Amino acid sequence: MYCGIDFGTSNSAIAIADDSGVQLASVEQRDITLPSALFYPLKKPPVYGHAAMTLFTEGAEGRFMRSLKRLLGTQLMNFGTLVNNTPRKFDDIIGGFISFMKDKGEALAGQPIEHAVIGRPVHFVDGDPGADYAAEQQLRRIAEAAGFKYVAFQFEPIAAAFAHETRLASEKLALVVDVGGGTSDFTVIRLDPKAAHKHACASDILGNAGTRIGGNDFDKNLSMLSVMPHLGYKTDYGAKNLPVPLSWFHDMAEWSKINFLYTAAMKREVQDVLRESHAPEKLRRYQKVLEGEAGHRLLDITEQAKIALTDAEITSADLAFIEPDLSIDMTRKDFERAIAGDVEKISATLDECLALSNVRKEQIELTVLTGGPTETPFLKLLIKEKFPAAGVSEENKLSSVALGLGHDSLRTFAA
Ligand SMILES: Nc1ncnc2c1ncn2[C@@H]1O[C@H](COP(=O)(O)OP(=O)(O)OP(=O)(O)O)[C@@H](O)[C@H]1O
Ligand SMILES: [Mg+2]
Repeated sequence: MYCGIDFGTSNSAIAIADDSGVQLASVEQRDITLPSALFYPLKKPPVYGHAAMTLFTEGAEGRFMRSLKRLLGTQLMNFGTLVNNTPRKFDDIIGGFISFMKDKGEALAGQPIEHAVIGRPVHFVDGDPGADYAAEQQLRRIAEAAGFKYVAFQFEPIAAAFAHETRLASEKLALVVDVGGGTSDFTVIRLDPKAAHKHACASDILGNAGTRIGGNDFDKNLSMLSVMPHLGYKTDYGAKNLPVPLSWFHDMAEWSKINFLYTAAMKREVQDVLRESHAPEKLRRYQKVLEGEAGHRLLDITEQAKIALTDAEITSADLAFIEPDLSIDMTRKDFERAIAGDVEKISATLDECLALSNVRKEQIELTVLTGGPTETPFLKLLIKEKFPAAGVSEENKLSSVALGLGHDSLRTFAA
C-alpha cells in the first residue's frame, strides 16, 4: 500500500493507493480534506483540523497555528517557537500533523504505509534555489521521522493534472492553474487518458512555473487595505511624529507570522508607543488584539470576508470582539484593488510557464483550475480572457492534488 499526501498551506488530504485503485481517506469525520490547522491546549496533546479551529474560536486556552507550510525553507524554521511556555521545533509541530494524516491513511488501508509521494509547490521560496532545496529536505526529514521509509516528491500542479487525466475522453494540451493558500503553480502538460496508468514520461510535461503568492497574500492585502488602518496602521506617535512600526501590522496580517508577535517585549513596546500615540483610539484596538492573542481571529474574519466577496459585491466584517459596534464594510472593488499587484505577478508567472513550455496561449485546449482562490472572480476572468477558446475543468478543487499524488505513488513505487 502506498499513499499521496497533499500537505497544503490551508488544507490537506491523503490518498491511499494499491493495484485495486486510489482512494481519499476520511481525515476528519467523513471529510476528505482538513484545514492545516493545529491547536495545542494547555496540558493536553495537540488537536488538528476543524477541531483545532473550533477549540480556538471557542476561546480555549492554548496556542493555535496555521499556514505552517509557509515556514519551510525560511529562517523561521530554525528558531522554533514557545508553545504554552515549552520551546518546540517546527519540525516536530509539522511532524505531528503529518503523522495525524498518516494515521488516517493507515486506518483506511488497515495496514502500515511506508511509501509516500508528497506534493510540493514548484517553488516553496521564489528566486532562491538553496532555500527551495532546504524546504524539500525539511519536509523529507519530517516525513521520515513520521515513519515513512520511502519518500518522493511531485509538483502539486502535475499531481492535479494526473487526477484529471483519468477522467478525460481524448488527448488534450492542458494548462493546470493551481492557486492555493500559499503558492500559485502552473504546468503545461499533454494529458492522455490512455497513458493515465502508465509511467508519466518526461515529454508529457512541457513546463512548470510557480510563485509564492496565494490566498494567504490575498487575506493579507485585504487586511492592509481595509482592516489595519482601523487599528492604527500608518499613524504616528510622539513629539517627532514617528510612524508606528509598519512591521507590527504586516506581521499581524500574515498567517505564518502572527504567533511571533506574542512576546512580552512586543506587548511592552506597544504599551509604550500607545502612551504617545496620535491616534490612541485606533492603536488601542491593536493592543487589544495583541494582548488577547486574537490575531488569527481577526485574520480569519478578514478571510471570511474575502470569501464572501467571491459571490457578493459588498460584505461587512464584524469586529465586535475588539469593540462593540466595530464593523468594516468591504467591497469586491476594494478587494480587487488590494490584490491587483498579486494578480499581476500570478499572470506573469503563468506567461512564464507558457514561454518555458514553448507553447502559445492559443494552443491550450483545456485549463484545469484547482485550489480555493481560483473561485475568485478576478482570477477566473483573467484565465477566461487569456484562454477564451479553451475548455475549463474545475472538479474536486480541494482534493484533486491528493488524488493525483495517490496515482503518482503507484507509478513511482509499484513499477
Ligand atoms: N470561494 C472562495 N473564494 C476565494 N478564495 C477562497 C474560496 N474558498 C477558499 N478560498 C481560499 O483558498 C485558499 C485555500 O486554498 P487551498 O485549500 O487550495 O490551498 P492549499 O492547497 O492548502 O495551499 P497550497 O497549495 O498553496 O499549499 C485560502 O486562502 C482560502 O481563503
Ligand atoms: Mg494546494
